[in-house]
Amino acid sequence: MTNAITAAGLRLAYGRTAIVDGLDLDLPGGAVTAIVGPNACGKSTLLRGLARLIAPEAGTVAVDGEDVHRMSARALARRLGLLPQQPTAPDGISVEALVRLGRYPHQKALRPWSKADQDAVESALERTGTAALRDRAVDTLSGGQRQRAWIALALAQDTPLLLLDEPTTFLDLRHQIDVLDLVADLNDGGRTVVMVLHDLGQAARYADHLVVMHEGAPAAAGPPAEVLTAELVEAVFGVACRVVPDPETGTPLVVPRASARHRAAS
Ligand SMILES: Nc1ncnc2c1ncn2[C@@H]1O[C@H](COP(=O)(O)OP(=O)(O)O)[C@@H](O)[C@H]1O
Ligand SMILES: [Mg+2]
Repeated sequence: MTNAITAAGLRLAYGRTAIVDGLDLDLPGGAVTAIVGPNACGKSTLLRGLARLIAPEAGTVAVDGEDVHRMSARALARRLGLLPQQPTAPDGISVEALVRLGRYPHQKALRPWSKADQDAVESALERTGTAALRDRAVDTLSGGQRQRAWIALALAQDTPLLLLDEPTTFLDLRHQIDVLDLVADLNDGGRTVVMVLHDLGQAARYADHLVVMHEGAPAAAGPPAEVLTAELVEAVFGVACRVVPDPETGTPLVVPRASARHRAAS
């Protein structure tokens, strides 16, 4: 089992409006996939569809060939964790209590809370730097602290497949890098990670597989170095740019063309 995700002929709609239609997608197991694309192109909708939070009007989503709609809710929650883009916490809940919710799919009727559960919670708090915040109410945290508490919840769930919708939004640069390094560590440990990012350079650095979404469909998918071309970025984001090698990693770095007023005098 590699925890690869396959979508075939997927149609996801709100009411009568289809956001994603006829989508085919193969996300490699044991790899980090980044999904990028303009606002409102359907990234969150796709993630919710993959996590079975939206029932498809057509098509299928499978993990290692097994249709997610045929799994029990509990079996799926042990297999796949989702950090939504705008999660809402129960009123007044503490950080630790929030993170403990991640253990729910693992608990057994006669042994509601085990040492393994506590260990998973402690590890999740440590790895996200939220241990010192454990007694704070989630609704009193800063945006970045709250984001890390939610990531801790997803980690505590300890699933081989992790879907993260904009895990770095609200975070300062240090914390963005910490979260992305954590993703890389989780992947080294064998996990499949699929994350939505806005920073194309970070996506190219951290992802093995890049999916560029445009108006509800993948415009391109593959290794970042093959996918991220100036033509594609201009077509999808409407930004004239150059793509240069990242001086640190050699991965593609998207540099927007300067307007005349910003161009260096030469
Ligand atoms: N619950 C909803 N009900 C109706 N329309 C929605 C809902 N959620 C998202 N949409 C619409 O679906 C489209 C895609 O949204 P979304 O998947 O959130 O985009 P992205 O994550 O790429 O910014 C947008 O036009 C958005 O307004
Ligand atoms: Mg979104």
